[in-house]
Amino acid sequence: MGIEIIGIGSYLPEKILTNTELEKMVDTTDEWITTRTGIKERRIAKDTEATSDLAIHAAKRAIKKANISALDLDAIIVATITPDMFFPSTACFVQKGLGAKNAAAFDIAAACSGFIYGLAIAKSFINSDTCKTVMVLGAEKLSSIVDWTDRNICVLLGDGAGAVILKKTNSTSDILSTYLGADGNAGDLLYIPGGGSRNPATHKTVDERLHYMKMEGNKLFKIAVRAMADSAKKAIELAGITRDDVKLIIPHQANIRIVEAVARQLGVPMDKVFLNIQKYGNTSSATTPIALEEAIYEGKVKKGDIVVLVAFGGGLTWGATAIRL
Ligand code: ACO
Repeated sequence: MGIEIIGIGSYLPEKILTNTELEKMVDTTDEWITTRTGIKERRIAKDTEATSDLAIHAAKRAIKKANISALDLDAIIVATITPDMFFPSTACFVQKGLGAKNAAAFDIAAACSGFIYGLAIAKSFINSDTCKTVMVLGAEKLSSIVDWTDRNICVLLGDGAGAVILKKTNSTSDILSTYLGADGNAGDLLYIPGGGSRNPATHKTVDERLHYMKMEGNKLFKIAVRAMADSAKKAIELAGITRDDVKLIIPHQANIRIVEAVARQLGVPMDKVFLNIQKYGNTSSATTPIALEEAIYEGKVKKGDIVVLVAFGGGLTWGATAIRL
């Protein structure tokens, strides 16, 4: 018995923020953003929308594709660094929004790698018979933690959500391998200092802009390339396949230059690597499910093909998974 993705859905807010518009907000240029990152535009959620609202849209689409009822879900796992609130979990808001009253619900915090961590948890739940049908989501409203005066970060990020539904199957579909890693020693390269128990919210933390994401992009870049290339190699090896068996690599969309460097290290041509960073920027945990959905929709992969999802993010965390669709 394998595990099949029986439904997949994504949601991108309607509002598009272009590089040209960003030129009016901070000291940047379309040329700098395009050549350094590959990003042309990103989506921004409404003020009235929270992460769970984006997630619920994506979840409903996945449920429709799977042709099941929300009542069939045994677990809802949301990967996010922008939860609606500290608690209840965003997954509980999604459960309520879907009316999925039979589902356990919880969030995981593994930043941009969160969706891949979520798939690994779902696989274990299904293989241990803890759950039959599991929904995993990556959902982010990164615009809510972006300092719109910091050109180092605000040009990179966007909002969005993606959802998959996993179930046991007799077909050849399966999550062939999962590989996860972390290095807490480098956590200070990407973090939000304020608002948690270390620096609870005060007027001072607000004045010092501690509730916004801080990043050392240059240092992260190098670690990201190595961690993503190593993770993809490990997932391929653990799956007992070779690079040539993989139809498409679906990498976390943080920077086109990171993706190109990872492809070079893997010895894979760029036409075997999925890219949509130009449209959405970095949506953290949501990039890989959104990209997988688009790759399927565009006919780049179909049932029976093997894809490798690979990601890297704050924590630091990283991971990869080989999936036969
Ligand atoms: N517009 C114009 N100039 C800029 C901008 C901007 N938006 N941002 C930075 N610059 C300037 C810098 O100030 C610097 O100027 P200086 O030389 O006068 O000091 C110059 O551009 C070069 O800056 P670098 O940081 O060296 O530029 P780099 O080529 O490294 O690109 C980037 C920066 C895009 C952030 C890159 O390092 C990167 O993508 N890093 C990885 C990011 C990442 O993967 N993050 C993890 C995921 S995010 C998450 O988890 C949600």
